[in-house]
Amino acid sequence: MTPGPPRAPRLPLETDRLRLRELSADDEDEFIALYGDARITRHLLYGPTDTESAREHLAAAIRRQRAARRNTWELGVELAATGRLVGACDLTLHSREEAEIGYLLAHTCWRQGFGTEMAVALVHAAFGQLGATRVLSTVEIHNDRSARVLDKAGLRWEGTLRRYAKAKHRWWDVHLYAVTREDWLTARR
Ligand SMILES: CC(C)(COP(=O)(O)OP(=O)(O)OC[C@H]1O[C@@H](n2cnc3c(N)ncnc32)[C@H](O)[C@@H]1OP(=O)(O)O)[C@@H](O)C(=O)NCCC(=O)NCCS
Repeated sequence: MTPGPPRAPRLPLETDRLRLRELSADDEDEFIALYGDARITRHLLYGPTDTESAREHLAAAIRRQRAARRNTWELGVELAATGRLVGACDLTLHSREEAEIGYLLAHTCWRQGFGTEMAVALVHAAFGQLGATRVLSTVEIHNDRSARVLDKAGLRWEGTLRRYAKAKHRWWDVHLYAVTREDWLTARR
């Protein structure tokens, strides 16, 4: 990140039904369960692939919360009504201008609009509290469900990136979705 006053989202990010908040060691069981579900991980380039790597991933995310200068926020997603952890998401400020979002949700919570609710909250925080001028996300080319979520959150398809990254022993093709601050503001009017 280029120098300048630190920016950070005000946490938790709250929506009608969700609370996006810092992860904690108490999340370990749910976190391991999320990353142990192949229905969730099959379209994910990065992230844990077994129990031990899920445990390490959570511990590293908690350590990163203490960084003096932070540019990534890896958050737990809980149901506001019950406090149950049902997902995880992240918001990264790559430069002073560009932010990236990512998310996942427990399978029992799919198709109830939670994915969109979470993505909208992340985009809102990126343009609002983080002052980004562009928000992007990449989505594996067969992940139609997530592409739909990005579309509903206001991001638009900008292209396909072939052999974008080598992860989990194979090359991945992804779609790039993004929205500029101007387009986001126009759509909200
Ligand atoms: C992506 C994810 C968060 C979506 O969560 P969700 O709560 O089910 O999303 P929503 O309910 O807000 O919206 C899903 C949309 O996709 C649509 N959809 C569902 N299945 C679909 C499919 N197979 N193909 C295309 N669209 C589909 C739904 O109809 C809905 O759109 P609609 O409201 O216009 O009907 C969830 O599926 C998930 O965690 N997937 C695994 C992790 C992942 O892929 N993360 C994203 C990495 S880029």
